[in-house]
Amino acid sequence: MFVGRDAERAQLRDRLARVIAFGEMAGPLLVVTGPRGLGKTSLLRDVADQAAADGFVVAWVSGVKRRPILRDVLQSVTGALERADVLAEPRTRSRIKEYEVQLHFGVGRVGAKFEPQSTTDAPPLSQYVVEAFFETASNAVRERGGAGLLVLIDELHAPVEPRSARDSTADPEAQYEIALLLNVIQNMDAQRERFPLAVIGAGLPQTMGLLTRAATFGERAHEIILAEFDERTSQEALTEPAAQLGVRWEPDAVINAVESAAGYPQALQIVGSAVWEAARPERDGRITAEHVVASAAAFEQRVSTMFHTRWDVASPAERAFLRAMAEIDEPVVHRRDLADRLGVTSDELSVPRRSLITKGIIEAAGHGKMRFTIPGFGAFVRDRDSE
Ligand SMILES: Nc1ncnc2c1ncn2[C@@H]1O[C@H](COP(=O)(O)OP(=O)(O)OP(=O)(O)O)[C@@H](O)[C@H]1O
Ligand SMILES: [Mg+2]
Repeated sequence: MFVGRDAERAQLRDRLARVIAFGEMAGPLLVVTGPRGLGKTSLLRDVADQAAADGFVVAWVSGVKRRPILRDVLQSVTGALERADVLAEPRTRSRIKEYEVQLHFGVGRVGAKFEPQSTTDAPPLSQYVVEAFFETASNAVRERGGAGLLVLIDELHAPVEPRSARDSTADPEAQYEIALLLNVIQNMDAQRERFPLAVIGAGLPQTMGLLTRAATFGERAHEIILAEFDERTSQEALTEPAAQLGVRWEPDAVINAVESAAGYPQALQIVGSAVWEAARPERDGRITAEHVVASAAAFEQRVSTMFHTRWDVASPAERAFLRAMAEIDEPVVHRRDLADRLGVTSDELSVPRRSLITKGIIEAAGHGKMRFTIPGFGAFVRDRDSE
């Protein structure tokens, strides 16, 4: 069950309202960003449900690490059009199929000739075909009485992820296709009355930086940064799903459970299910503070599994980095303090820092500063035996 995010939902709804009302593009690319487990996919799903109810045809794509994305986008759009029976009209169908064929060869051919220096100069042919595809697809929805086309791209950072911490270059084909897509979105927005369409992405905090590196579109994209849940939303995340089954959380039980999750949506999900299993409430039953206490071991164990999976992917140098950060034990850690503690120069931190950001374990927190993405990770690292 989806709770909170009122401001973000309102912002997204306003964008889609423009497509519904005027049949024109919703605006520049909108990207929801946040660390792992903060609720990006959940928010996109909520947008998808809302939009489908409002008459949109919704295409969902998930970016894959260092893999070109365009074909997935086109296939997902075509699939969504098929399911919504928008392609029943033979002329529309044959045009869509024709673009698919052209792009299948066109993008592949261009990609093969790709040179890293020219990422921003998208060849006009493919760009033109992709635009024409979106124009036909989105207007076909409109002609069938729908609101428009909504394209949702989750894990938008993944295709342009750096090769490794030492080599920050993206996969050339994947980067080329992201650049092409961004250019097309920007062009469409400049002629918005032709495109009853919205494109919304989601990705890790580094997404905007990676996109800006892939294409010079910068200021033309908007970012919605997700934060942890506030107290009230955290409470709702626990009490609302229970209430639907007639189960009531006692006030002190909610307070204790909410505290252990520190506003982190994924931890709320874990504490919620651990308490539920400890309580096994009947319909119209109650969840008490004793149930929360009884579930504590199961909760700790699952949270620690979540931390372990992150710790396991860190290299020895990265673990030293994380340990030093944990020992400093501040909400935000200055790069210089970290360098001092490790006895290295600030520059020498670049490689592990970038890698840990790519892995979603830490995030930038203003210039020269960083923090752990999940609350409690610092304590987990401090509690470990040094190895
Ligand atoms: N608004 C919400 N209401 C209720 N539960 C939520 C909400 N947002 C997130 N959650 C819970 O937190 C969990 C993690 O959320 P989600 O998968 O959306 O995060 P994410 O940011 O997409 O993470 P990742 O980067 O790993 O893909 C979900 O399984 C869900 O249980
Ligand atoms: Mg997700």
